[in-house]
Amino acid sequence: MTTRPLLHHFLTRSASIRSLTLLKYIGDGAFSTVYLCDWHGALSPGTPLPAMQWPRACRPEYTDKRLVAVKRMKPQWADSWENCTQSKEFIALREIPIHPNIVLLYDCFFVPEKKELYFVFEPMEGNMYEFMKSRRGQTLAGVLVTSISHQIASGLSHIHSSGFFHRDLKPENILVTTIGMCTYPNTSPGAPPELDVVVVIKITDFGLARKMASKPPYTELWGLGAVIAELVNLRPLFPGKGELDQIHRITAVLGNPSGEHVARTPSAVLGGGEWVDGVRLAHGLGFQFLQTPPVDLSTLFDRKVPRELVKCIAGLLKYDPAARLTSAQCIEHPYFRKMAPFADLVTRSAFCLQPPPLSAEAVREKFGSTESRPQMGAGLAEMSLAMRRMSPAASDSSLGSTMDSAPKSQNSQNSYKSRLNVRMGPPGEIPGRRN
Ligand SMILES: Nc1ncnc2c1ncn2[C@@H]1O[C@H](COP(=O)(O)OP(=O)(O)O)[C@@H](O)[C@H]1O
Ligand SMILES: [Mg+2]
Repeated sequence: MTTRPLLHHFLTRSASIRSLTLLKYIGDGAFSTVYLCDWHGALSPGTPLPAMQWPRACRPEYTDKRLVAVKRMKPQWADSWENCTQSKEFIALREIPIHPNIVLLYDCFFVPEKKELYFVFEPMEGNMYEFMKSRRGQTLAGVLVTSISHQIASGLSHIHSSGFFHRDLKPENILVTTIGMCTYPNTSPGAPPELDVVVVIKITDFGLARKMASKPPYTELWGLGAVIAELVNLRPLFPGKGELDQIHRITAVLGNPSGEHVARTPSAVLGGGEWVDGVRLAHGLGFQFLQTPPVDLSTLFDRKVPRELVKCIAGLLKYDPAARLTSAQCIEHPYFRKMAPFADLVTRSAFCLQPPPLSAEAVREKFGSTESRPQMGAGLAEMSLAMRRMSPAASDSSLGSTMDSAPKSQNSQNSYKSRLNVRMGPPGEIPGRRN
């Protein structure tokens, strides 16, 4: 398997050649804190410009910057560079080849004085949880649901075909950048077109990723089904409070997994199916699944939601891991095949906005060489201190706020209305600007 070409040049133990300015706090996870920074050094030729900086999608205050997301791992994670290179996240990020729906790692370094490991990623505007919250209940255009789900499934399928599984797929680990607005065709006959945002999706957080042993990565396909359902409804399908409550809620929808119940529910959108191992496991633990039949999954979604999409979600939410759709089967599902031409139009529009990757010369011209810039050197330790001081509460922490579809003020540069408007044209047509 090939490793990511961009990494070869940069992955070193030395922190002395890095030069960057801290811009703001982005987010926190269980194992790290992430900051938006302006990167002064050169990146490898061919490094694509992040979607946040694509022409016309870039916020004015960022146009003269080279934005990166710097993830500072919590200290206990590393005591030497050699240890860092053994971390699961490092291994997965290094070995999974580049893909448009997987966050791109630019660089990785270790600050020995602080015993801190840093990952430098392409920056994204926010995560999927923030994106859904920012909708304030406003459902997504049908084609936007297809576009987002397809991008997640494509990223996941790539991870799996590279011999890894992610094991932590959830809205917080799915990054979103909005690059404009689009008048989407409505897939319901006779219904008016729907104006909505165009987004780029990338999977991140490989902290729990593992190389696949003999078994296919079943668990995250359940996660994918749950994420797609949440995207459609803008609320979780099984909002459990604790493990037991969660299992009860799941059983209340998908029904009891015993064969006896399943025999009475032949429909594809009915139930989680039979799960012999689960029933045996529960029995051994003295646990009783609710004795309930499944409900028709379509009743949990709006009537406008295509039946094929509900079937796809149902195919991912099977109790028996072996009965679930694989990520490749999900992409090939009739729902995605039928919707592919629409989603494809969105992708084309997106790529019309993306400039070609930087040539070596352009990189030098635009960002200078690391040698000619002021160095942070030992200053990286100071930066680490500054990051600590930059408390989440004190900073503009909500990248998600840039995702509000409602403008913050009449002249807000950040609102979508004042940003890019893309109208879908026929395939191949460069989308024009609308005001
Ligand atoms: N490249 C990035 N661009 C923008 N935000 C990011 C990026 N990477 C992470 N984040 C934000 O930081 C949060 C924590 O990062 P993550 O990689 O999930 O760390 P952890 O392993 O600690 O959960 C994410 O939920 C997301 O909101
Ligand atoms: Mg995370």
